[in-house]
Amino acid sequence: MSRLEGKTALITGAARGIGLAFAEAYLAEGAQVALADIDLASARAQADRLGKGALAIEMDVTQQTSIDAAIDATVAHFGQIDILINNAAIFTAAPIVEITREDYNRCFEINVAGSLFTLQAVARHMIARGQGGKIINMASQAGRRGEGLVGVYCATKAAIISLTQSAGLDLIKHGINVNAIAPGVVDGAHWDGVDAFFAKYEGKAPGQKKREVGAAVPYGRMGQAGDLTGMAIFLATREADYIVAQTYNVDGGQWMS
Ligand SMILES: NC(=O)c1ccc[n+]([C@@H]2O[C@H](COP(=O)([O-])OP(=O)(O)OC[C@H]3O[C@@H](n4cnc5c(N)ncnc54)[C@H](O)[C@@H]3O)[C@@H](O)[C@H]2O)c1
Repeated sequence: MSRLEGKTALITGAARGIGLAFAEAYLAEGAQVALADIDLASARAQADRLGKGALAIEMDVTQQTSIDAAIDATVAHFGQIDILINNAAIFTAAPIVEITREDYNRCFEINVAGSLFTLQAVARHMIARGQGGKIINMASQAGRRGEGLVGVYCATKAAIISLTQSAGLDLIKHGINVNAIAPGVVDGAHWDGVDAFFAKYEGKAPGQKKREVGAAVPYGRMGQAGDLTGMAIFLATREADYIVAQTYNVDGGQWMS
């Protein structure tokens, strides 16, 4: 099965974690993939490992010139962009009374402005090309509710759900589907960082928060990046043409519980 044969995807934050799993899954489905990341060395190492069809691109989603250059480089190499996964993001945590403006600005700059202006630039390319496209934003269960220590990150992901709705409604007239995936808790480097925040603020032993959240997932464990690839592939296929402005939970039942 090659459900994405002939398609080119630009995936931000693809040097590791969920974005890397998406890149691997898309390549396996026949797509060509630009792995875009601020960490070029890691993106390059992964693209070299993945081989034909994979291209590493340096991209800082907080810089418009970098966004434009990454898109130009992808189009120059592959000819077009059919699919964008807006995946790059950072996590931050602090009690409300300790949130700093600097941390707030950085998190919103990467998670929200980075996603919006990457989406905008890729949408312009897709509109000019006239063949539609698929845009997938990475939201989170954190965007569906508040969390005492996670106010800023939760707000960025709520913004992603909202922007997915607005962009989805605005761009479907061009044949561009904008949807989002809301994971629950997915093991990896990102969650190692989350665990460290909870160790700091809740006095937990390293690894304790991870074990607790994993045990609380109805499915019985934390997610793995590979648990999300099925939805990421489906949303990029023609079978998802009639799906507009939605955010799908892929979380082992966490949100329902
Ligand atoms: N891991 C989880 O539990 C979880 C849960 C819900 C949602 N998500 C979301 O899924 C996405 C991927 O998460 P992950 O766990 O793979 O995270 P991760 O931290 O492992 O990977 C993020 C990648 O983004 C890159 N990046 C950071 N800043 C960047 C910038 N300015 N420009 C370009 N790239 C940049 C990093 O270098 C890294 O490779 C994120 O949007 C995250 O918020 C993750």
